[in-house]
Amino acid sequence: MAEEQTALHPRPDGSSATAPDLRRTGIGQDHWYPVAVSASVPRNRTFPATFAGRRIALYRSASGTVHALEDRCAHRQVPLSMGVVEGEVLRCCYHAWAYRGDGRISQIPYLTKECARPPRGVRAYPVHEAHGLVFVFPGDPAKAATTPVPRLPAVASPRHRTMTFSRTVRCHYSFLHENLLDMNHQFLHRGVVGRIRPQLLGYETGPSSVEARYLFRSTGGRKDRGARLLAAEGVRSSGRPDLLTIRTEYPYQTLLSVPENADVPAFSLWAVYVPEDAEQRVSHAYGLLSIAKPPVPGALRLAWPLIRRFTERVFAEDRMAVEAEQRAWDEQGEDRNREIFPLILDLRAVLRANGTPLGPGCASGRPD
Ligand code: FES
Ligand SMILES: [Fe+2]
Repeated sequence: MAEEQTALHPRPDGSSATAPDLRRTGIGQDHWYPVAVSASVPRNRTFPATFAGRRIALYRSASGTVHALEDRCAHRQVPLSMGVVEGEVLRCCYHAWAYRGDGRISQIPYLTKECARPPRGVRAYPVHEAHGLVFVFPGDPAKAATTPVPRLPAVASPRHRTMTFSRTVRCHYSFLHENLLDMNHQFLHRGVVGRIRPQLLGYETGPSSVEARYLFRSTGGRKDRGARLLAAEGVRSSGRPDLLTIRTEYPYQTLLSVPENADVPAFSLWAVYVPEDAEQRVSHAYGLLSIAKPPVPGALRLAWPLIRRFTERVFAEDRMAVEAEQRAWDEQGEDRNREIFPLILDLRAVLRANGTPLGPGCASGRPD
């Protein structure tokens, strides 16, 4: 109910008393979202994906093209992801109705003149494969062609190596945006990253973006070897600050780390948090971490497992924190965060303005 989506007590986070609860804000639909890593959809196979409670059957046809169909057969609602790929079509596992990539039915094996007029097919989603991810466009299909898929030059560049992350996190996507942009939480990572003093140099807010620049200065403490490798401290003297630029460009997030006196980033991270369930309390985090190759050939390949372990450890700590935040929301039924950091208050406003209120029917799994 609309009344239940607004807080009646004053909000300490700077939003107005009638502003919708950010955790009841659905993610904007008119964007490209990854719903699978490409490797999960081999040729002639299906993959059951989800976007905000919608089940989507991905399949890669014999020609290598990935298609995305509503994951319910038009006949008796059996998931098409349980079906069989035959050339360019997907055949339902039950009565063998066959679907083309555009969702139209191409064949019903037992159709005769006496049969009732069959349905036309199921919804198909625009699909784009890039950066090792399968993107779908869940919103207005007419906007898909004019909405750019994220451009990630570092991922395509031979001067970089890219690590892909794909993880379920049990929280609303907004917690993850706030987590990355608010670098004041480095205390959480003191055991893995060492002691860091982040200094906010400045930030800019636009209608669909917030960008913050931090100076990251190490102040000691034990540091994981992966952290030292990622900060490239093996090749420069320690103690120098790094410039970190973190940007939410709705609905994506990027982080660039540029060592002092360098003009190219040591590493860059691109991330997006895709709601899995209709209530959007579970997100699938996709991340692409691109690291510039050092001059020594093969050095990065050798360091790769250590960097992977380090980033997984940091991510596990962040996940622990944001999932705890979601549990607090679940217990209290509303957002009682007392946020004080102006940058994060701006971010919350951007996420609200670009999202859509979650309706009462969101729990049905049929938001569309
Ligand atoms: S349920 Fe799919 S063909 Fe019958
Ligand atoms: Fe973190």
